[in-house]
Amino acid sequence: MSSTINTNVNLDFRGRVALITGAARGQGLVTAEHMLSLGARVVLTDIDTEEGQQAAANLGDGATYLTLDVSDAGAWAECVATATSTFQEAPTILINNAALYRPARVEEVSSEDFMSHIGVNLHGPLLGIQALLPAMTAAGTGSVVNVSSVAGIGGFEGIVAYTASKWGLRGLTKACAKELGPRGIRVNSVIPGLIETRMASLNSAATNAAYVAESPLRRIGQPIEVAAASAFLASESASFITGAEIVVDGGLTLS
Ligand SMILES: NC(=O)c1ccc[n+]([C@@H]2O[C@H](COP(=O)([O-])OP(=O)(O)OC[C@H]3O[C@@H](n4cnc5c(N)ncnc54)[C@H](O)[C@@H]3O)[C@@H](O)[C@H]2O)c1
Repeated sequence: MSSTINTNVNLDFRGRVALITGAARGQGLVTAEHMLSLGARVVLTDIDTEEGQQAAANLGDGATYLTLDVSDAGAWAECVATATSTFQEAPTILINNAALYRPARVEEVSSEDFMSHIGVNLHGPLLGIQALLPAMTAAGTGSVVNVSSVAGIGGFEGIVAYTASKWGLRGLTKACAKELGPRGIRVNSVIPGLIETRMASLNSAATNAAYVAESPLRRIGQPIEVAAASAFLASESASFITGAEIVVDGGLTLS
């Protein structure tokens, strides 16, 4: 058995199609670029149609853009069908990256806003897994990477709805890993810390400065540093890893 396992680092995604949500900008876009550079064909999806179409056009052959609100179950079915006909092959890699981030404290957060965070950040990834499950099951292989957050392994002030959704996403990851492993489908999480994107710019400068000061590496992270972890988990290099988490936070959550 062990003689059949390739122990070389294998980040070769040639012949695979990867679907990345929230890929019009930020970490999703950099992850799409990275997966493309490693040989995958990539389906960028987002609610920001103009930015997403432009991003995919800039990436050239091997990339396509589809509008997809991850919280819309019906839209997922259509998206997967179009992606499959575009590349004549179904995606067997799913990177659940899209997220809503609207800071609000406990006494401020409305029920509607709370449920929106759950709908996009937690239910969205489940809908994605459900939509790609038939193709992954038929292929006998699949890899899902759920992008959680350091807010999903700790408690941070002023982001109660986001925090709850990201803790939930870690639980979803582990439950799906357990159920889907026997079909050859791996499900893992990456846990970014403060990363330089539009989302991080929604925090006050003082908040971000405090995170940097608390981090042993004393700097903000770059989207490619998260993309590299996602690509590793999606790849054959991680063939025996499921239900796991890679924290990419410069050490912010060490203490
Ligand atoms: N930037 C950080 O500091 C940080 C820290 C921890 C975790 N994260 C996580 O990393 C991931 C990427 O975030 P980012 O930093 O690139 O932020 P970003 O705001 O730049 O990108 C998020 C993307 O998600 C899209 N999106 C929002 N709602 C959507 C929906 N309903 N359907 C589809 N797409 C939707 C947005 O249009 C946007 O393109 C998110 O899951 C986020 O929670 C980010």
